[in-house]
Amino acid sequence: MTGLLTGTVTFLFTDIEGSTELLKRLGKHYGDALAAHRRILRATVRDHGGEEVDTQGDSFLFAFPRAEEAAAAAVDGQRALAAHDWPAGTRLLVRMGIHTAEPTVSDEGYYGLGLHRAARIMAAAHGGQVLLSLATSSILEDATLPGATLHDLGEHWLKDLDRPEHIYQLDVAGLRTAFPPPGGVQRVRTAQPATADGTDELLERSEALSTLADSLAAVAETARGQLVLASGEAGVGKTALLRRFCDDHRQSARILWGACDPLFTPRPLGPLLDVAELVGGELAGVVQQGGKPHAVATALMQELGSRETTILVLDDLHWADEATLDVVALVGRRIDAVPALAVLSYRDDELERRHPLRILLGALATARSARRLEIGALTREAISRLAEPHGVDAGELFQKTGGNPFFATEALAAQEAELPHTVREAVLARAARLTPHAAALLEAVAVAPPHVPL
Ligand SMILES: Nc1ncnc2c1ncn2[C@@H]1O[C@H](COP(=O)(O)OP(=O)(O)O)[C@@H](O)[C@H]1O
Ligand SMILES: [Mg+2]
Repeated sequence: MTGLLTGTVTFLFTDIEGSTELLKRLGKHYGDALAAHRRILRATVRDHGGEEVDTQGDSFLFAFPRAEEAAAAAVDGQRALAAHDWPAGTRLLVRMGIHTAEPTVSDEGYYGLGLHRAARIMAAAHGGQVLLSLATSSILEDATLPGATLHDLGEHWLKDLDRPEHIYQLDVAGLRTAFPPPGGVQRVRTAQPATADGTDELLERSEALSTLADSLAAVAETARGQLVLASGEAGVGKTALLRRFCDDHRQSARILWGACDPLFTPRPLGPLLDVAELVGGELAGVVQQGGKPHAVATALMQELGSRETTILVLDDLHWADEATLDVVALVGRRIDAVPALAVLSYRDDELERRHPLRILLGALATARSARRLEIGALTREAISRLAEPHGVDAGELFQKTGGNPFFATEALAAQEAELPHTVREAVLARAARLTPHAAALLEAVAVAPPHVPL
């Protein structure tokens, strides 16, 4: 594919809400409606200097050299769609998502996390709604958008993205501005303690939460940073605990969250790209140019030193690439020079003796500013509380899951006699790393009748 915009690009994703339903209702008129919608959006985008990158069924992907024009195209597009006379008294509602990123361009088109983020933001919008990422909204801060204003919707966990995204809505004068909360996403809870009634109750973590809170308080008081090495097996609740901790302290600290992905070839500097995207500035420049670990560490230290208190979470470090580990080594060793609580999470059951992270952790753990936080499985009592509303035998659930909340909640969600897929996949993924003997044994156990204890 040639002629694609390069450098900083603002993506506009659009999609017709409830198109299957609409197709049923409109029958043979659906084709006309779809064509009219395409004409309207294409003309609007052209007027604002945008390019059509892709169209599939009822969705479009457009790219713009300037965020301001992408927003203006969304505003005009929604206006024109609302004003159009749709067949058979129906209304065609289009959800839109805008995100600014520096995507990679190949012969096949654009790719990169930024594109995924744009798609996720669009998917979270309702028909007639325009949602924007923090990146786009900060560019738009000084722009004048005729007849439109930015409206802060707060932070949300977007599906499949492992850190919260700050989402803004573009309010278009004269059009609908009240929508239900973004769909497919979970609102980040703000500074609320765990409640006993919510389904997202965190069991048996008050001690871990207060350990973390103590460290944070010490950082805030002394302006000297600390390091927490948070370990536990897959599914034990590392991410859930750290999310809750961050949510509880959002008022008093800046949250920077980066996550590593389970890839055979990890993104170089993966979690730091997440962090860089949140803070922008010097750090973003260095990271996006694939800077050397020393340069990235220096920029990160400067960034951490420039604010009162920061919680920096780097999640799932057992999957980190080596450049990230080098940055962590450099920053970890000097963390007390900046007012930051750096929390590193990793699976301790996956670290072989010579895993580079194990070597790094060995070096960091002896520092005065470092403490270990081991996140253990839930007790039989907690598993009973989870099982109770489902009428499931708590003893058996505890025995089968070993108190692992991921396995337990998956098993409860499925509730059938059959092992739920995700549990099986998690077990198989782990089995892939076992020795041939252990794997054969596991396979034998896994196909045995359900009462063989795992
Ligand atoms: N303390 C807890 N009480 C209840 N549910 C929990 C708890 N910790 C985790 N969970 C649930 O278990 C699942 C796995 O947790 P997660 O934090 O993703 O594990 P990890 O990051 O260690 O792999 C999530 O659905 C989460 O809501
Ligand atoms: Mg996790």
